[in-house]
Amino acid sequence: MTEFNNRFNEYVALINEAADKYVSEKMFEGRESTGLSEMLKAMAYSLSNGGKRIRPMLTLEFCRVCGGDFKKAIPFSLAAEMIHTYSLIHDDLPCMDDDDVRRGKPSSHKVFGEANALLAGDALLTLAFETVLAAEGVSAEAKARAGLELAKAAGCSGMIAGQVMDLANEGKSAPLDAVKETDRLKTGEMIRVSCVMGCIAAGADNEKKKAAEIYSGNIGLAFQIVDDILDVTSDEQTLGKPIGSDSENEKSTYVSLLGLEKSAEYAEKLTAEAKEALNIFGGEGEFLAQLADKLASRKN
Ligand code: IPE
Ligand code: IPE
Ligand code: MG
Ligand code: MG
Ligand code: MG
Repeated sequence: MTEFNNRFNEYVALINEAADKYVSEKMFEGRESTGLSEMLKAMAYSLSNGGKRIRPMLTLEFCRVCGGDFKKAIPFSLAAEMIHTYSLIHDDLPCMDDDDVRRGKPSSHKVFGEANALLAGDALLTLAFETVLAAEGVSAEAKARAGLELAKAAGCSGMIAGQVMDLANEGKSAPLDAVKETDRLKTGEMIRVSCVMGCIAAGADNEKKKAAEIYSGNIGLAFQIVDDILDVTSDEQTLGKPIGSDSENEKSTYVSLLGLEKSAEYAEKLTAEAKEALNIFGGEGEFLAQLADKLASRKN
């Protein structure tokens, strides 16, 4: 466990440091008197010192278990976190889930206004691709492949499609299959591509990429199910975001359809399946196995 915690903390520190570097106060210099300064502050406000950093951590660890130098995967990992962060800024807007607290702080639009929150999200999305393409120490081919995978996962056949379905399912009891597909897209795709970009950075073979797909497909779905459980069972302080948001918005979730107990059982089953896919990595897969367990039993 100590080894797990050490690596976990090392990754979080690296990611936080890189986040501060990519969107820093330097970007504000000379622009204090323009509206740009506010928008740039909004980008930094949401990206730095915030979330659990699970997606970028997956990129770094998949790079490592596939035999790569995980430090070279830092730009790819940050790109995933930038897109994830933008998706949260937009997800909280009044026109979407209308939530006022995120990562333990007032949501972006509550601090900077809706226009800046919208634009900060747009800017983070764009900066993610700039960050992939400007990565040093990885081949041009790896950058192109990572960029393509990221675009597909984040876009209108990936995360955005899931967000559209999530909104379309509001106010009705959508079939379980539709909820599963929604979760796979809105949450699973960004988790999947985070793992895949780690494989790409390491130049992993197809067998390892396949294992990454199976692992991430399972933890991705489990992640959203646990998120939906916590929306019912947690409290705002622990979670760092409002509870009861799903029922207030009449969302169709695993919890609303199956109840808490069956949802938790399903998340456990998915976590076990994720861990099975790690056999190919031998002892090196231990961190990913423990991470899957940690995510399944998380409290925030
Ligand atoms: C929240 O993701 C949104 C979902 C996809 C469920 P996280 O729980 O990873 O949020 P942060 O990054 O830790 O804030
Ligand atoms: C969000 O799902 C998934 C995203 C793509 C942002 P939720 O709407 O359940 O995420 P939270 O609970 O607001 O973090
Ligand atoms: Mg939402
Ligand atoms: Mg939400
Ligand atoms: Mg939620």
